[in-house]
Amino acid sequence: MIPTQALNNKNGSRIGFHIITFGCQMNVNDSLWLTKALAAQGYVEAPLADAALVCINTCSVREKPERKVKATVARIRSENTNPDLCIAILGCVAKQEGEACFHYEPCVRVVCSPDQIIQLPALLAQALLHPSEHYAALADTPDFRERPQHPKTFVPPVAYVNIMQGCDNFCTYCIVPFTRGRQRSRDPLAIYEECRHAIAQGASEIMLLGQNVNAYGLDAATKHHRTFADLVADIAHLPGLLRLRYTSPHPKDMTERDIRAFAELATLCPSLHLPMQSGSNSVLRRMNRGYDQKRYLSLVAALYAANPSIALSTDIIVGFPGETDADLAETLRVMEEARFCASYSFCYSDRKGTRASNYPDKIPPSVQHERLLAVQELQERLTEQYLTSRVGSQTTVLLERASKRGSGQRFEGRDPFGVRVHLLFDDTNDHTGEYHHVVITEKGKHCLFGTRLGIVPVSSRAPLLADHE
Ligand code: 5AD
Ligand code: SF4
Repeated sequence: MIPTQALNNKNGSRIGFHIITFGCQMNVNDSLWLTKALAAQGYVEAPLADAALVCINTCSVREKPERKVKATVARIRSENTNPDLCIAILGCVAKQEGEACFHYEPCVRVVCSPDQIIQLPALLAQALLHPSEHYAALADTPDFRERPQHPKTFVPPVAYVNIMQGCDNFCTYCIVPFTRGRQRSRDPLAIYEECRHAIAQGASEIMLLGQNVNAYGLDAATKHHRTFADLVADIAHLPGLLRLRYTSPHPKDMTERDIRAFAELATLCPSLHLPMQSGSNSVLRRMNRGYDQKRYLSLVAALYAANPSIALSTDIIVGFPGETDADLAETLRVMEEARFCASYSFCYSDRKGTRASNYPDKIPPSVQHERLLAVQELQERLTEQYLTSRVGSQTTVLLERASKRGSGQRFEGRDPFGVRVHLLFDDTNDHTGEYHHVVITEKGKHCLFGTRLGIVPVSSRAPLLADHE
């Protein structure tokens, strides 16, 4: 129970909180949980300028994370006018930097690692009650810790459900196994329960989340016998669910059943983000990825065979230590062959403590940027080809929110292929959560525009995946 003094400002009004989130979908999901948990405790969401509690959910995967966090702390200090301001740093930078975060500014008084976020509401209450104290929760947990669910809060049409924590892969460039710890699979019954709950609250699409989802159930913390393919099949059949997706799988752990699921499960959307990182065998080996170009391409071929219209996307790192022009040429070749409809590409950067940070033959930034441009130029062409192929086709869009694109009253959502589609309406109603049949009329740089053919009534909603021509 939170003491009431921890909930109220000196003038008696409720204490406001504000959360700033960087990084992956897991962080977004953690911040969503924290928002609900703090609201359930009686705090209210507030603009950055007034909030007494400001939480920064940090990411250390790329770029210069500490610098970014320090700059964010400075921005909060300049914009926030609350005399009782308390800043909490959570997520991967908190795990890595630990109590050193307290030296950023006196008002940084709470640090919390990704595994300990469940403790955060209580820590924040303590920090408010004791303004001269500092609080740190940085330990790893040996298993997946269930967080209390908050049933009465709004569930968006797309619900994100965590199925695991951490990662055991130790790709040589990656900090995640150090900040998020060993892989721990979540109990399947808890996963089903959260999915059923989200559906009962109005969600019709579920996105399963984890650092390496298809290694689900293979870690030492697992106390059951469900594989990832079992889990996907179980969830795909939950009554009321229309769409299922997951991110991110690892190519080395994709099983035949995982691939067949794209042919067999009506609710499993025909889109997959399959991080490739590089197309060169020697780079893949030094990255410790556990597959080579041939295996990656045969996976891609098997996925297209299972569902010829599947939309594939990927992650690519350029300028990994020792990468040559010939290695980059291999990456570009595989991108063409795989026909990725989208990709996220990054210049390699050293993460302290990872194996690759000790590798020789670092690539100068100017060469890295040239290579990044080459990847991005090719991707723009591939994306354009894909989006052009979609113009004139019919599909179904689940609307997620009002859209800022274009004029008039627009809503945006995704089609089954994961592409963002914008639709125009001639009323002022809230269309969030509706499914619309649409014809694609135009392509943007990374999205599509459609004309509505008709709303799909709730009574005739069925998995609406086979309608792409
Ligand atoms: N440098 C550059 N990119 C990285 N990624 C992970 N670690 C690094 C790094 N040290 C990229 C990978 C991963 C994505 C989430 O971030 O492509 O798939
Ligand atoms: Fe990092 Fe590799 Fe694990 Fe992905 S699979 S989180 S890149 S170690």
